[in-house]
Amino acid sequence: MGKAFDIGLDSLVETGAGAGLGGPHTHNRPVGQAAEGNGQTFYLETFGCQMNEHDSEKVAGVLLARGYRQVASADAASVVLYNTCSIREKAAQKVFSRLGEWRPGLQSSKVSLVTSAIQNQETQDPGRNSEPAARLARTPRPALQNGKIIGVLGCVAQQEGEKIFARAPWVSLVCGSASYRKLPELIQELERGNRRVSGLDTDTEETFETEVTRRDNPWRAYLTIIEGCDKACSYCVVPFTRGPERSRTSASILEEVQQLAGAGYTEVQLLGQTVNSYKDPSARKMRFSELLVAVAEVPGIRRVRFTTSHPRDFGKDIVEAIEAVPAICEHVHLPVQSGSTRVLKAMARTYSREEYLDKIAMMHSAKRPISITTDLIVGFPGETEKEFAQTLSLLDLVQYDGAFCFKYSPRPNTPSLTMDDAIPEEEKSRRLAVLLQKQREIQRARNERLVGETFEVLVEGRSKKVNPSMVASNAADVRAGQWSGHTSSNKVVNFTSRAEESLGDYVRVRVTGATPNSLVGEVAEIARSARNDGTPFRK
Ligand code: 5AD
Ligand code: SF4
Repeated sequence: MGKAFDIGLDSLVETGAGAGLGGPHTHNRPVGQAAEGNGQTFYLETFGCQMNEHDSEKVAGVLLARGYRQVASADAASVVLYNTCSIREKAAQKVFSRLGEWRPGLQSSKVSLVTSAIQNQETQDPGRNSEPAARLARTPRPALQNGKIIGVLGCVAQQEGEKIFARAPWVSLVCGSASYRKLPELIQELERGNRRVSGLDTDTEETFETEVTRRDNPWRAYLTIIEGCDKACSYCVVPFTRGPERSRTSASILEEVQQLAGAGYTEVQLLGQTVNSYKDPSARKMRFSELLVAVAEVPGIRRVRFTTSHPRDFGKDIVEAIEAVPAICEHVHLPVQSGSTRVLKAMARTYSREEYLDKIAMMHSAKRPISITTDLIVGFPGETEKEFAQTLSLLDLVQYDGAFCFKYSPRPNTPSLTMDDAIPEEEKSRRLAVLLQKQREIQRARNERLVGETFEVLVEGRSKKVNPSMVASNAADVRAGQWSGHTSSNKVVNFTSRAEESLGDYVRVRVTGATPNSLVGEVAEIARSARNDGTPFRK
């Protein structure tokens, strides 16, 4: 999700030193405590999508369980990890420029912080995927040159593989997400002193499940239910970087949800590149829509979200689950990519404009209002002006509550890389601007229609924005407190409340104003109980 429908950690509660490393519920969450261990520290920076954000939470959990301590700056860390994204060229470039910051010479002030585990490295068994220890003894070790172990995780790691070692020889660890099961092993090899380790297999049936997950968002717990992607859209690197689809068993998902509820979470978000392509590998064979209902029924869970849905696997049963179960949030993120059937075919999206619109019609006629958001690509090879106009007209028909719009970016290994009729960069920029402007107007109009209505909001943070209507009417109300949170439909609401402390509560907020990206309002009523089992949220 992007800006319009999510708020960053910095706008969540103040987390004290090292924002994002703690939270009001740190005490009762499954957060790994640094064991009295080797005293090593790690810094983990994440680029890209929510799947990456959540993978990082699991990677942090693995490291914490091994006795590492997480720190908020790379300078203070002995292990620096970048969890990377390569979905568009710009994202991948960002990673290499970050790696460039560690080029030896630029880091002369960084004294060795490498622990004895690394200094002893020549005597140890090099293990799999690693260079022979004897060679290490003769070679200046990049890790020592920098005083750090630098690691690249995620999609750039998978895509570039060991070429990263050639391009940035100071990197010691390269591991793609499909190999995260091996991460503890790889880290162990580094601890033993191996200079370079890599995990790049995508040929796996395993998912990355961890005993400890260090969750960054104190209100919304992310939960991967399916990894990888089998869809093979012609522009997309994900099938290469994340490997084939692998689903977790429904039992292990439900067990994790129970743990999350026990730890105080009331909202969970099920994640997958194509979350609704979920296939329960156990004998229970739970369908995705049944899983949604089962998760919503876990005592303590009050909101269930899921993203990203693929139109091909989006059926009426999902809409019926939303209609029947109030805890399943009234929001569906259903990327369309283009409004032209010809372009959709070239993209290998497996549905036509009409078929997509049929899915939309199911939601438009649902018994609960369902907020729909999407992803769009402009300037796909050969996209004509007329085809672009079909994307614009689709926006009119669907009336999205949010859209993430991208210029087509040619990516390595993808079928569309070699397609003819590339659209010039300026033309892509022009189309993007037209699209954004149109969607902005749609969102403005849709949000303005909500003025006067009342919604339930989970209070997630203090709002940075001041409600302008309050400034005009009564300065005391401004001081009363500015808060922010999300509706079930995933809209950001900035609102005032006189309550001293309402973080984590569900409140009813009356909407008093609207912008294209958020609502403003004031509290109408604070819910007495926050959880679906009737117990108060705050202990
Ligand atoms: N160029 C532009 N956008 C892309 N996306 C995926 N691959 C590309 C690409 N090569 C977009 C799609 C997808 C979202 C996560 O990123 O819209 O849904
Ligand atoms: Fe990429 Fe298509 Fe899979 Fe989405 S469904 S991750 S766009 S290949």
